[in-house]
Amino acid sequence: MFARRTAWELGENALARRRAALERAGVPLLDLTESNPTRCEFTYPPELWQTLADPAAAAYDPSPLGWLPAREAVARGYADKGAAADPRRIVLTASTSESYSFLFRLLADPGDAILVPRPSYPLFDYLAGLHDVEPVAYPLAGGGPWRYDVDALRAALTPRTRAVVVVHPNHPTGSVLSGETWAALAALCADRGIAVIADEVFADYLVEPARVPRTLLSGTLPVPGTSLYPVPETLVFALGGLSKFLALPQMKLGWLAIGGPPALVEPALARLELIADTFLSVNTPAQRALPRWLAHAPAIQHQLRERIAENRQWLRGLTHGSDPFDVLASDGGWAAVVRVPGLDDEEAFALECLEQARLMVHPGYFYDVETPGHLVLSLLPPTARFREGVARLRQVLEKRRAAC
Ligand SMILES: Cc1ncc(COP(=O)(O)O)c(C=O)c1O
Repeated sequence: MFARRTAWELGENALARRRAALERAGVPLLDLTESNPTRCEFTYPPELWQTLADPAAAAYDPSPLGWLPAREAVARGYADKGAAADPRRIVLTASTSESYSFLFRLLADPGDAILVPRPSYPLFDYLAGLHDVEPVAYPLAGGGPWRYDVDALRAALTPRTRAVVVVHPNHPTGSVLSGETWAALAALCADRGIAVIADEVFADYLVEPARVPRTLLSGTLPVPGTSLYPVPETLVFALGGLSKFLALPQMKLGWLAIGGPPALVEPALARLELIADTFLSVNTPAQRALPRWLAHAPAIQHQLRERIAENRQWLRGLTHGSDPFDVLASDGGWAAVVRVPGLDDEEAFALECLEQARLMVHPGYFYDVETPGHLVLSLLPPTARFREGVARLRQVLEKRRAAC
């Protein structure tokens, strides 16, 4: 009856099951995986909601690539940060996930391969599978902290590779591309006729080197500028969206900025226009509001950056030689990866945290971290909640250590 591509293992994992059972029983949990910014006590200017009441949104006047003034506003955002963009080369979508979907349709036939970093964001398997594309992982080097490595990426290429995904900074590892790595990758992709999909949703959340101890940085100097898209040699699709840019995931609006040789960009745009026209999925009120919303980016991003920096610093400040975990260096993003020496069964430990401390943490293997002994924490929770959560984590770890 159903397509093979939907023959997923649909049952919840043990952690999700246990969490749901505790929640059903009314047990309060402290969630150190919370990465929904609308649940993390940030202050959103009321103007954001007022803008949605614009009566101009009552008219339906669809434009497949997006309402031009909204695309111009996104382009100005890139220009303000030093990466001049042509609004005609910006395409609006309903989310970054939808941007991936459009690009997989544009670039790959069934059975073709898309390279994705490992460790990274766990949605790639589903996104690729839904488009009958094979996600082929290329490992980030270093084993924590991780860094992009063009040789590992080259080794994963096959004649069926149609695109390389880079997440810059990567989630959850915070790895960024250095200028040198990016130049080598762009040249490699140009040489092989492969597109680059640069997921830059966390690009506005780079760690500020002046604010954290050097040991918290990987030492990679990120590509100068704010976006990877403006390269002349190969087709690059840079992805961004409101879920991270303005911490507004509920508004369902993303974008992609297209860079590269005009002989490739123009046909890509023409084809994307038809893909987008088939769905017309971006809602009118959000497109209409976008130019005014973007003006609030500095104030909203400032709050998130402060929160993330404070939580990261504090987490790091706790770890000294004899501590039960250490925090891996990171160059950006909303998450921290902690390493727990001697922790073999991450899932059993995450369950222990739920049972003993009513605490939710993510095992590293959720993100395809290959070696066991890693946990992933969101840095978005309000500081007091975050500190309480980390204190509980320490208690569980110390108890475990004492029992060994
Ligand atoms: C690296 C990365 N890309 C894309 C997304 C999805 O963004 P959107 O909500 O715009 O689909 C996420 C969500 O967490 C993410 O971590």
